[in-house]
Amino acid sequence: MATISSDIHPAISFLQSGELVAIPTETVYGLAGNALRGDAVAKIFSVKDRPFFDPLIIHVPDFVSIQQWTLSVPDKAKILATQFWPGPLTLLLPRNNVIPEFVTAGLETVCIRCPDHLLTRQLLRALPFPLAAPSANPFGYISPTTPTHVQDQLGTKIPYILDGGECKVGIESTIVGFDGPQVVVYRLGGLSLEKLEYAIGPVEVRLNTSSNPVAPGLLHSHYAPRKRLLLGNLDTLIAEHGSSAAVLAYKTKRNLVDDTRQRILAPSGNLAEAAQNLFGMLRALDQTDAPIILAEPVPEIDLGRAINDRLRRAAAG
Ligand code: TXA
Ligand code: MG
Repeated sequence: MATISSDIHPAISFLQSGELVAIPTETVYGLAGNALRGDAVAKIFSVKDRPFFDPLIIHVPDFVSIQQWTLSVPDKAKILATQFWPGPLTLLLPRNNVIPEFVTAGLETVCIRCPDHLLTRQLLRALPFPLAAPSANPFGYISPTTPTHVQDQLGTKIPYILDGGECKVGIESTIVGFDGPQVVVYRLGGLSLEKLEYAIGPVEVRLNTSSNPVAPGLLHSHYAPRKRLLLGNLDTLIAEHGSSAAVLAYKTKRNLVDDTRQRILAPSGNLAEAAQNLFGMLRALDQTDAPIILAEPVPEIDLGRAINDRLRRAAAG
């Protein structure tokens, strides 16, 4: 199994020798490797069992360093990075030739972000290369938000998990690109549309749900537990499927369902708390002996949009 520790020095050594390390970020744990080394990036795809056509995000210690990897940075990207980095925002920018094609799946763009986690930023500053890091889960499954989640699924395939505790945000970064003057959101995530629009004005949301997506990680079915998940009116679903089902409620406990098979995302209704709990609770319910998971949408505002997006994709699995 992988060593779990908060010491960054072994992480530095492993990454320098082309090995993979799971790293903490504020969103979810990442499976990191040297973005400039073909063998390291190939390992990322094989450990995750991820299709090669699905490009990776590269992680940098600060905004200044993105000039090294991009052809141009629109003014609006600078405004957003100034305001939200380090943080749960990924910028989709035209890449230069230094970024290898195996990172971007041959695309002319590259996704870049600066994660808001002390240990990982120390690590990034100590390394002479950026880190390519998708979420540290098998392709298509729920993203990990604790070192144990990573250990459970990838522990036999990687040497080291950098322990940065539980992820604060709990859902992946918001992906933002630029189509001429238009700011486009390609993935809803830990930075809300409300905050984005307050900073930059109206944005267009272009989530890909077709069977031939631009960004395959945005496949209609993704973030899915092994069990079937149904999303809808929870009381109706419980009436239909019986009280032996596992239940993921927004804020109100259902008395018909046993506590061991029930999780409440946020008893107070706080959507940031719900986001932080989402993936861990889905995993826990996936591990019960219930035949099915029943869930209800949360309010479609702030982080609720990204939570509902994940629940819809999990339900499409
Ligand atoms: O919060 C996050 O972003 C986490 C942490 C670890 O940083 N990372 C993450 O990576 O969620 P991943 O690989 O699980 O999701 C990245 C998404 C995928 O849907 C991928 O298809 C898309 O970003 N993507 C990456 N590069 C792209 C590009 N050049 N054009 C379009 N989509 C891209
Ligand atoms: Mg992922």
